[in-house]
Amino acid sequence: MAIERTFSIIKPDATRRNLTGAITQKLEESGLRVVASRRIQMTEDQAKKFYEVHAERPFYGDLVNFMSSGPVVVQVLEGENAISKNREVMGATNPSDAAEGTIRAEFAESIDANSVHGSDSPENAELEIKQFFTEDQIVG
Ligand code: PPS
Repeated sequence: MAIERTFSIIKPDATRRNLTGAITQKLEESGLRVVASRRIQMTEDQAKKFYEVHAERPFYGDLVNFMSSGPVVVQVLEGENAISKNREVMGATNPSDAAEGTIRAEFAESIDANSVHGSDSPENAELEIKQFFTEDQIVG
């Protein structure tokens, strides 16, 4: 099995409710290792760039506002098949569709305030990690 890295964000709805530890615990319990982590306030420009792929979607403006509305925790997660494993433990985008025991089923408030982000492909994982971390900030 391949050891991969993926990019994760604990979103403002979760930091506001003091859920950073509870969410990180679920990630770690799934076998993922936190190899970089930083709490930041995303600027509007950073959020716009991060979600550029959704620029034409009707929810883009709200998503950018939400992601820059409070602190987030950006993380690099490492492990076997980290990208799919992380998406599995996160659960579906819409918490009402998320499987029992997943982070979103347990903690998410709505489809936008859904507590976590995780990269959806190796290409995006690499791009997203590079947007927030330099290689020397990642310690495996
Ligand atoms: S989709 O519909 O399959 O493209 O959705 P997805 O790629 O899973 O996630 C899109 C991100 O936008 C956030 N968001 C919404 N998605 C769908 N519908 C609405 N109304 C909406 N509002 C916000 C959603 O939380 C996803 O964020 P990330 O950070 O990528 O998980």
